[in-house]
Amino acid sequence: MKPKQCYIDTAMSLDTLPANAPTADATLLPAPWRPMRASDLAAVEALGNRIHAALPESSTVFAERCALFPAGSWVAEHRGHLAAYALFHPWRALQPPPLDSLLGAIPATADTLYLHDVVVDPVRRSLGLAGTMIERLPMIARSLSLSSIELIAVLGTANFWRGHGFAAVEDPALAAALAKYGDGACLMRRSL
Ligand SMILES: CC(C)(COP(=O)(O)OP(=O)(O)OC[C@H]1O[C@@H](n2cnc3c(N)ncnc32)[C@H](O)[C@@H]1OP(=O)(O)O)[C@@H](O)C(=O)NCCC(=O)NCCS
Repeated sequence: MKPKQCYIDTAMSLDTLPANAPTADATLLPAPWRPMRASDLAAVEALGNRIHAALPESSTVFAERCALFPAGSWVAEHRGHLAAYALFHPWRALQPPPLDSLLGAIPATADTLYLHDVVVDPVRRSLGLAGTMIERLPMIARSLSLSSIELIAVLGTANFWRGHGFAAVEDPALAAALAKYGDGACLMRRSL
């Protein structure tokens, strides 16, 4: 696939992501999801690091995903507050990026849609926010000629993902990549 325009190289911070950076096509996900903007990044990082307190990621990780693949950078808002975010991007199958790492670029050989993270604020859960995003992923992946969707299930969410058609990938070669994601983390995959 054609790599998206990259706004950053190495030492990127939230301050260096242009306010007019491109955002996702707003028709890809239904309301209350909307494309993430540069001005959302501080709240996205705060929510992510509140929920993933044991798995923190730096500001540059959020900002880089947003800059490299704006079409996969989403938030849901409720009464002016961030209720959820989702970050996904094309990637190479069975090669999950290490935790808290920069991608550098979207690989030309990408063949999976990698869901980096979805987090819903605890006070907005069980409203279908994550589900409405997840059910659109196959359509988005196919439109990019990607043949699967992958993610690393953390925080005991494997059953949640099974309910959305994902299955765990058992492969000792993944152990090193999964180690930093905490006990019980596993790569999950949905073939399309
Ligand atoms: C997992 C998560 C994204 C779901 O968001 P959500 O918007 O509440 O999801 P939905 O409303 O679409 O679906 C909710 C259903 O999923 C179920 N569910 C949520 N977490 C679950 C889990 N860990 N295991 C099994 N089922 C789960 C709920 O029981 C609920 O079912 P119900 O409506 O019958 O009660 C949210 O709980 C979250 O942000 N968790 C913390 C961050 C996280 O782990 N993200 C995933 C990283 S891999």
